Amino acid sequence: MKLVLLGAPGAGKGTQAKRLHEKYDIVQLSTGDMLRAEIASGGELGRNAKGLIDAGALVPDQMIIDMIAGCIDADDCANGFILDGFPRTTRQAEALDAMLVEKGLKLDHVIEIRVDDEAMVQRITGRYTCAECGAGYHDTFQRPKVDGVCDTCGGTRFTRRSDDNAETVRARLKAYHEKTAPILSYYGKKGMVQTVDGMASIDEVTRQLDRIVG
Ligand code: AP5
Ligand code: MG
Repeated sequence: MKLVLLGAPGAGKGTQAKRLHEKYDIVQLSTGDMLRAEIASGGELGRNAKGLIDAGALVPDQMIIDMIAGCIDADDCANGFILDGFPRTTRQAEALDAMLVEKGLKLDHVIEIRVDDEAMVQRITGRYTCAECGAGYHDTFQRPKVDGVCDTCGGTRFTRRSDDNAETVRARLKAYHEKTAPILSYYGKKGMVQTVDGMASIDEVTRQLDRIVG
């Protein structure tokens, strides 16, 4: 199964992609996670991307296209993949189409997780992640069972993203509406977009996704 998850910053793409990965054994390809790994490794690509990410701007299309091109037909994607945060511009969507044709692959679903902008500031500023295993949490909406202890691995160190502050979130939402929302009509014209209600609870969004992909 090959799918694209579309949605504004904080819509729940990463949260739901992890659940889809666990349930259907398909790989989560998050361009945001890949860029953060590049930054952590201290390489040139990460250094070039960091300023843009911290300002809430998109990084150049070609950097992202090159990054994803080697992933979608890698061995670990034999069962399929979830694209989380890609494509994000019409140029990226066109490049993805060309890559899929070249590799003889086809998307099964393009799913929009639809949310209200105003709620996204609270979602994003409350988000944190286990530093050991990457499990995602939220100060209000997704607390660990025992405060300060990761449900998944028992880790006690957590991190917050440097772009998860109220000011940067507004820039990211602006970039979403200006650059990414147009790809809804790009895929809409192909009759490919299905929408779930991202304002529902995390479990309810999962149920809606299951009804589409299950
Ligand atoms: P990226 O990492 O993709 O960030 P984003 O799109 O801004 O999305 P987020 O990861 O913030 O949100 P999410 O939808 O994954 O939400 P989550 O599930 O975590 O990109 C970061 C940056 O990298 C970009 O700004 C750009 O600079 C660059 N970049 C990346 N890809 C690029 C590309 N293709 N082209 C150019 N530049 C690119 O949920 C958020 C929080 O809410 C969590 O705490 C979660 O617990 C909680 N939550 C989730 N669902 C619900 C729910 N239903 N109810 C209540 N709480 C919920
Ligand atoms: Mg994410």
